Amino acid sequence: MSHILIIGAGGVSQAATVKCAMNSQVFTKITLASRTKSKCDKIAKFIKDKVGVDIDTAAIDADDTAAVVELIKNIKADLLLNVALPYQDLTLMDACSQTKIPYIDTANYEHPDTAKFEYKLQWAKDGDFKSANTMALLGSGFDPGVTNVYCAYAKQYLFDEIEYIDILDCNAGDHGYAFATNFNPEINLREVSAKGRYYKDGKWIETEPMEIGFSWDYPKIGPKDSYLLYHEELESLVKNIPTLKQIRFFMTFGQSYLTHMKCLENVGMLRIDEVEHNGVKIVPIQFLKTLLPDPASLGARTKGKTNIGCVITGIKDNKPRKVYIYNVCDHQECYQETGVGAVSYTTGVPAMIGSMMVAKGIWSAKGVFNMEEFDAKPFMDELNKQGLPWEIIEMAPNETRLIKEI
Ligand SMILES: NC(=O)c1ccc[n+]([C@@H]2O[C@H](COP(=O)([O-])OP(=O)(O)OC[C@H]3O[C@@H](n4cnc5c(N)ncnc54)[C@H](OP(=O)(O)O)[C@@H]3O)[C@@H](O)[C@H]2O)c1
Repeated sequence: MSHILIIGAGGVSQAATVKCAMNSQVFTKITLASRTKSKCDKIAKFIKDKVGVDIDTAAIDADDTAAVVELIKNIKADLLLNVALPYQDLTLMDACSQTKIPYIDTANYEHPDTAKFEYKLQWAKDGDFKSANTMALLGSGFDPGVTNVYCAYAKQYLFDEIEYIDILDCNAGDHGYAFATNFNPEINLREVSAKGRYYKDGKWIETEPMEIGFSWDYPKIGPKDSYLLYHEELESLVKNIPTLKQIRFFMTFGQSYLTHMKCLENVGMLRIDEVEHNGVKIVPIQFLKTLLPDPASLGARTKGKTNIGCVITGIKDNKPRKVYIYNVCDHQECYQETGVGAVSYTTGVPAMIGSMMVAKGIWSAKGVFNMEEFDAKPFMDELNKQGLPWEIIEMAPNETRLIKEI
């Protein structure tokens, strides 16, 4: 019996809110609140038509902690799911610790003026959540999120010791545009145009953007060019799997995407500082967001599949072991079910499952936590029931699906 307050009304929110409504025995009441209330109402109508469940909607400025506190108290919410933007993580965490309700998000805090994410400021709120006798669950999307749970499952059930992890994120969907980003363009382009980083033998190694890449043979998709990026789950996994010798993250990009991004970067359109244009101050990357297709609109036209997974190498019973755990999602099937494509779906479904783990008390603790700090099994079981089934390939220790370096 939980009343969930969901903040944000983009593509990820739509998937998460639809899935909460499909689990109305757990989420007995749903309030969807965001900056633009009409977007919440549109999602509410979709849910009423498709699932037959009524949800409440509200307008909220998630940057205003006091306003969120008031909303939580007025509607008597039991937990808060943040699927707005990473900029709102800290204010929403404060609103939750002040009202003593659990907080769940899908993305690491970023300051709007600095294209950099790290857990420091969110982990620093551990004491606030402990004092409030409640918890914050960080990064309950796919990556971070399910990828952390795959690693936790491997650590808890498949290996005695984990040594190497490669996280591989492939979106082979085709939306037919020359250039579009598959989630919030500002957040996406800040992440992709930043320097790469990975962890090896106790040290973080920085790379130029897209410096390391290879063609990888993704199960049920085939070979795709994949490039090393820094990604937020690396920070917490290095902390929580201390036997790790190396962990890296790769994402697929087509040549058209990379060429457009380089060109936009070269002309200054990815700048995150203010520039003056005809007497008006604008931030180029925010103006670019206005020009690009709304990621939520890509679902209807995107065809193809995603494959996100982890290749994990380590020791079991004194012998080397290597497994590949992954999920494959079809954009059109996601769209038929929730009205959004696979990128929003693969984030929104785990956001609902993380909220379910907390609402049912299956994951219960006091303080601030990452996904891999809990028993992975109940989450893995829900993935199979809620539309994100996973598969495991047992690989020979020296086997690889790497086709060629690029
Ligand atoms: N872990 C993962 O696997 C993963 C993958 C993809 C995305 N994500 C994360 O998921 C989140 C949502 O992504 P998305 O693609 O759905 O983004 P989106 O389409 O841009 O939606 C964001 C929503 O948040 C609302 N919002 C922004 N600032 C707000 C504020 N101050 N107060 C209230 N509402 C506010 C926006 O309102 P308006 O409609 O008024 O603009 C919009 O409805 C992001 O944090 C993203 O980084 C995680």
